[in-house]
Amino acid sequence: MSIAAAARAENLRREIEAHDRAYYEGDAPTITDAAYDALFRELQALEADYPELRVPDSPTRRVGGKPMAQFAPVAHAVPMLSIQTETDTGPSGARDFDARVRRELALPDDAPPLEYSAELKFDGLALSLRYENGVFVRGATRGDGLTGEDVTRNLETLRDIPLRLRGPAPPLLEVRGEAYMRRDDLARYNEKARARGEKPLVNPRNGAAGSLRQLDPAIAKSRPLRFFAYGIGAVEGWPLPATHGELLDALAAFGLPVCDQRLVAAGWRALADFHDRMGARRARIPFDFDGVVYKVNSLALQQRLGFRTREPRWAVAHKYPAEEARTVVTAIEVQVGRTGALTPVARLRPVFVGGVTVAHATLHNEDEARRKDVRVGDTVIVRRAGDVIPEIVGVAREERPFAPMRFQGRETHLAARKTLSAAGIRIIPAPYRKRMPRHPAFALPETCPECGSHIVREEGGAVARCAGGLVCPAQLKGALLHFASRRAMDIEGLGDKLIEQLTSAGKVATPADLYALTAPMLASLERMGEKSAANLVAAIEKSKQTSLPRFIFALGIRHVGESTAKALAHHFGGLDALRRADAAALENVPDVGATVAESLLDFFAEPHNRDVIERLLAAGVRWEENRGRADAPPGPLAGKVFVLTGTLPNLTRDEARALIESAGGKVSGTVSRKTDYVVAGEDPGSKLDKAKNLGLAIVDEAGLLQRLQGDSQ
Ligand code: IVH
Repeated sequence: MSIAAAARAENLRREIEAHDRAYYEGDAPTITDAAYDALFRELQALEADYPELRVPDSPTRRVGGKPMAQFAPVAHAVPMLSIQTETDTGPSGARDFDARVRRELALPDDAPPLEYSAELKFDGLALSLRYENGVFVRGATRGDGLTGEDVTRNLETLRDIPLRLRGPAPPLLEVRGEAYMRRDDLARYNEKARARGEKPLVNPRNGAAGSLRQLDPAIAKSRPLRFFAYGIGAVEGWPLPATHGELLDALAAFGLPVCDQRLVAAGWRALADFHDRMGARRARIPFDFDGVVYKVNSLALQQRLGFRTREPRWAVAHKYPAEEARTVVTAIEVQVGRTGALTPVARLRPVFVGGVTVAHATLHNEDEARRKDVRVGDTVIVRRAGDVIPEIVGVAREERPFAPMRFQGRETHLAARKTLSAAGIRIIPAPYRKRMPRHPAFALPETCPECGSHIVREEGGAVARCAGGLVCPAQLKGALLHFASRRAMDIEGLGDKLIEQLTSAGKVATPADLYALTAPMLASLERMGEKSAANLVAAIEKSKQTSLPRFIFALGIRHVGESTAKALAHHFGGLDALRRADAAALENVPDVGATVAESLLDFFAEPHNRDVIERLLAAGVRWEENRGRADAPPGPLAGKVFVLTGTLPNLTRDEARALIESAGGKVSGTVSRKTDYVVAGEDPGSKLDKAKNLGLAIVDEAGLLQRLQGDSQ
């Protein structure tokens, strides 16, 4: 053998391994694919020329090789047992296990607490890895516990599994553990699979099991499989440590992956605590686990406890409530939120999942409902993890109910058949037999299910909304609270409690109804004295005299805040001109873009809203029109648009705004090219960055005061 070849092979291996590590651990390739392949092929060629250079842990062993005809059976020298499951998901699961163990060991009540090892119960596929003199020689699935399948070729492609153990190794060591997939790896894999037009993997568990049962190792290699060691099988020539905890440490020292989320502690409370803690972190741990496993820590005690049929007495799996369950969709309803957003919600046949009974699941929005193609009558998989809103993760399409044949155009078909055969044309039988689903694909209704107003969709947005902002019961409380607020109609004393009372008693269904309230009617409400009733009526009466900007703002039109309302009032001078304006006219107003214009048009297009406005005017709500336009003195800041950001040293926001407006300027909430000045105080927000990007004039409080005096330097 050439010494140069041996040295080169060693260098190549080291280099390839370093690139592998960078790729698999850091997820960042340090070399191009082509350059990597070149290194790899060079090593393969060297090993082909000099077979004595082939070491058992050469990366060339990870290529996978040819597909196998079948998996050879492997008899496990030490059976692969299962674990007893503790289905009580509360803390008593841990207490009962401890009590059982203490009883089996005949410990007196006052004996000190027993020491346990606690780890996660990985949700994947159990494996046994055989290492002879430190070299990985065979890997097998659990099978029935006595005989498994030889999946060595597939496991060789799995980076987590060392091909050679680190340090001095025993003549024989069988490592037991679990192959699994991380959720993020699976998502990434599925994204690529879909892009290639392949079928995605259903979930991490099926992904792991399915990948190892592939006869073609190249497929296993393409899947993001990982491994955790949690125990041992047959061992020769290795003195066992005294405890399970130390055993796991030893496996980790051999270079085997051992999960960090583990604990050695005395007494059942520590176990129950671990169960709780890990349960709370379930969503943040990147792989699935369906419970935790407790094991008696002392191997000597494990031996004393022994087995009951196929389960050790020294271990238990303490489960978590299942997060997924199957059930049937009984209806799809549309809910209207406080902002008018429409959400399709699937009503479900109640099912126990994630620790609670679930009777409905969100479908988020119309696009999502259509993408998942959930229909009434479908059998679905529901997921509820932690406090997350229950979700439908998938539909069992093969169980979708079909429409009875008679509804599937049989009449038409028979008529056509008659005509055709009369014309002497032979008919291919039964095209109508193409079976049709019983229920159609989901579509949002055309009008709001709460109030019948029309539904609008913001450009590009997935969200559909009810346009009946002033009349929709779902939006009513929010609309009233806004209508009455200080900067809108300023009705003193009309807070959320009172609004709750008025709406649930059916006394107020739109803001216009407020003006029909009388003191005796109010006094009949609970916790409402005559005096407060009279005060409220007076406050409502007083609010009738308002200003156009306040009135526009009070309508609660989406995207129309206080400053936009002012700009609109100023620009149009009166309500009628605003109501009649088209998109182009609206977009002429400073600060009004396509979104705001669309929102205004949608609002005024809704007859229910127009009706409420008429009723408000009829009730006596009034203001002086054209004031802002005709009568205002020009002022030193006439026509200038300001944006305020951060805290000013002396002036409050309201004071700064009042000063600017009294000088003829306008204050806007958003920075745009139409902005003349950005007034920046302490801790300014992103508005300042945007202003800098746009190259706008930025002033501080002193600068503002100067300009208020008409001094623009
Ligand atoms: S110990 C003698 N530890 O659970 C006990 N098993 O029913 C042998 N599992 O499919 C198993 N995580 O693969 C043990 N930390 C863990 C585990 C674990 C998952 C699986 C195991 C087997 C099942 C046992």
